[in-house]
Amino acid sequence: MDDLNLIKASVKMQESAYAVYSNFKVGAALLCSDGSVITGCNVENKSYGGTICAERNAFTKAVSEGQRNYEKIAISASTDKPVIPCGICLQFMSEFVSDDFILLCADGSGNYVKYTFRELLPIRF
Ligand code: THU
Repeated sequence: MDDLNLIKASVKMQESAYAVYSNFKVGAALLCSDGSVITGCNVENKSYGGTICAERNAFTKAVSEGQRNYEKIAISASTDKPVIPCGICLQFMSEFVSDDFILLCADGSGNYVKYTFRELLPIRF
């Protein structure tokens, strides 16, 4: 799947976001190496620390479905600037992706920036 369609899938997922506390809806779409796309959204909790971000939601769904190899992920929110994964999500993803894994970070107007995982987390635990 090309970048624009993957971003489109992530934008669609914003509709599923459960963001009743922050009202900040995030969507993610993860392209697996076999061509399948697994989506995720943020799911918040009254105990705020229990919140799961859209990226981790997509990855936990993918791992639990038996997927282990990934090409790229699109992440989007209705923001002025492209939404970037938080530190917890980068650490979580680092378990599963190579330095060359691609992240497409999109804003609310469809603009996006393409990063490699290495650029966002150059040194790993
Ligand atoms: N959030 C994500 O889902 N992904 C990000 O990359 C940034 C933050 C969520 C977590 C929380 O539900 C809301 O956005 C505000 O931080």
